[in-house]
Amino acid sequence: MKARLAILISGRGSNMVALADAVAEGRIPNAAIELVISDQPAAAGLAKANARGIETTVIERRGRSRAEHDREIVAELKKRDIDLICLAGYMRILSDEVLGPYRGRILNIHPSLLPDCPGLDPQKQALERGVKVSGCTVHFVDETLDGGPVIARREVAVLAGDTVETLSARILEQEHKLYPEAVASVLRELTISQSHAAS
Ligand code: GRF
Repeated sequence: MKARLAILISGRGSNMVALADAVAEGRIPNAAIELVISDQPAAAGLAKANARGIETTVIERRGRSRAEHDREIVAELKKRDIDLICLAGYMRILSDEVLGPYRGRILNIHPSLLPDCPGLDPQKQALERGVKVSGCTVHFVDETLDGGPVIARREVAVLAGDTVETLSARILEQEHKLYPEAVASVLRELTISQSHAAS
């Protein structure tokens, strides 16, 4: 029985690629990435998913309410019997339309040691605050901004002379290791619906 994953992106998609590689290499066992959804048609991650044979779909906001947009996302998730949703650089807040049916089954990765530096530009926030240690966090998504229960964190030292770019690059390297490990650990605990137990 394989867990069916969907990954939501808005841009580059390097964490999506890290998850796809981990599934392909068996580091996330008994899982399949069924769908990558982007809210941005120009997201570079879409081509990377397609190159790996993963189905992609673009669901744009197009002036609709957040709830309407999210209802369309949920329809795609339901169609494919998705068990777990991984946000990977998805730049929108999810509404109850998604949180309701998938609570406890939505993960996000954030480039700071949450609860420090939530929200936008966390690497810049870390440098401005002069912290010695930053890092990345995988957490469950709830209605708060980057505030849901923490699953795993990894520290990254802030070095003298670090810029947003150099710090972000070192954190990203760790994100690509941490996210697959965290997804694998969540899946070990998750009860996968019996509806596709035979797959
Ligand atoms: C990552 O730093 C992730 O932690 C944050 O947005 C960035 C997305 O990068 N939420 P990518 O699209 O996965 O390359």
